[in-house]
Amino acid sequence: MSKAITLQEFIMDAQAEFPFVSGQLTRLLTDIGVAAKIVNHQVNRAGLAGILGESGTQNSHEESQQKLDVFADRTFMRILTAGKSVAGIGSEEQEDFILCGDRGKLGKYVVMIDPLDGSSNIDVNVSIGTIFSIYRRVTPLGAALQNHDFLQAGTEQIVAGYILYGSSTMLVYTTGSGVNGFTLDPAVGEFFLSHPGMKFPDSGTIYSINDALLDAAPEAIKRFIAGCRDTKGVGLKGRYIGSLVTDFHRNLIKGGVYLYPSTKTNPQGKLRLMYECNPLAFIANQAGGLAEDDRGKILQKSPTHLHERSPFYVGSTNMMQALRSCWMASS
Ligand code: AHG
Ligand code: MN
Ligand code: MN
Repeated sequence: MSKAITLQEFIMDAQAEFPFVSGQLTRLLTDIGVAAKIVNHQVNRAGLAGILGESGTQNSHEESQQKLDVFADRTFMRILTAGKSVAGIGSEEQEDFILCGDRGKLGKYVVMIDPLDGSSNIDVNVSIGTIFSIYRRVTPLGAALQNHDFLQAGTEQIVAGYILYGSSTMLVYTTGSGVNGFTLDPAVGEFFLSHPGMKFPDSGTIYSINDALLDAAPEAIKRFIAGCRDTKGVGLKGRYIGSLVTDFHRNLIKGGVYLYPSTKTNPQGKLRLMYECNPLAFIANQAGGLAEDDRGKILQKSPTHLHERSPFYVGSTNMMQALRSCWMASS
């Protein structure tokens, strides 16, 4: 019988394959795994611990923060700033970026994070997640970190991943050579490789959109959804949970497309480019899927500010190609 591979073993083996990679990235990925277990523990006992509900504070988007939002943010900040690998962190829950050790002079990497995704689902016990991505610093080591270290295009990501706190807890990530998923065994407190080489099925059958946005969405999106509904027996399914990580993960496994459109009142949509769209776009591409905004590829966008938003369409190639045809027919 073959031995189960732990996340730690997998990370170490990957480092051994690339001797030029320093131990700092290995250490950083390990730290993310540790923070994930701490947040997972708190998510699991949220009802018991009496920490459900709003914290009474707002984040930088003037959205009310849930208590678990604050807990997850603090946990990731505490663990990532304590390690020696991270120079700076951009968090959805913080107005400005955070500089680690001596104004970001030390540490090779910059982390972008949505500490708790889908927080409107916390109170109703529906799956939520964490999304992260890692970039190399641009400013040389030893110099203070600058804005442009944080405002890098998605093409510069070296790692992207998410944690899904669901019926089981999973950590899924890519370092640019495929996508691998690990499931937490709560009995031993370890993530084990459970989904090696994850791939979007080429032919998806699920479409995921907040239906209430459709009237205000671009013509191409209306046309696409009309096509999904009118499948003449092909049997497409509409599925929308309202936790991006969870909707993305289901579509990655079953095949489908997720759409968060631009609308008349929000031409940039709702989702954040740096914390949500770029990491999931990198994972999607590595899993053989496609990710775009209203104009085309999302990873090439040059961000102008940390909390920038973007329309986001991601999923299986057949459905993304059908969406592309709708943009062309509507232009
Ligand atoms: P967050 O909880 O990090 O603010 O993200 C919420 C996002 C995303 O998870 C989800 O897909 C989307 O908001 C849902 O938005 P609508 O309620 O507008 O559908
Ligand atoms: Mn989110
Ligand atoms: Mn969030």
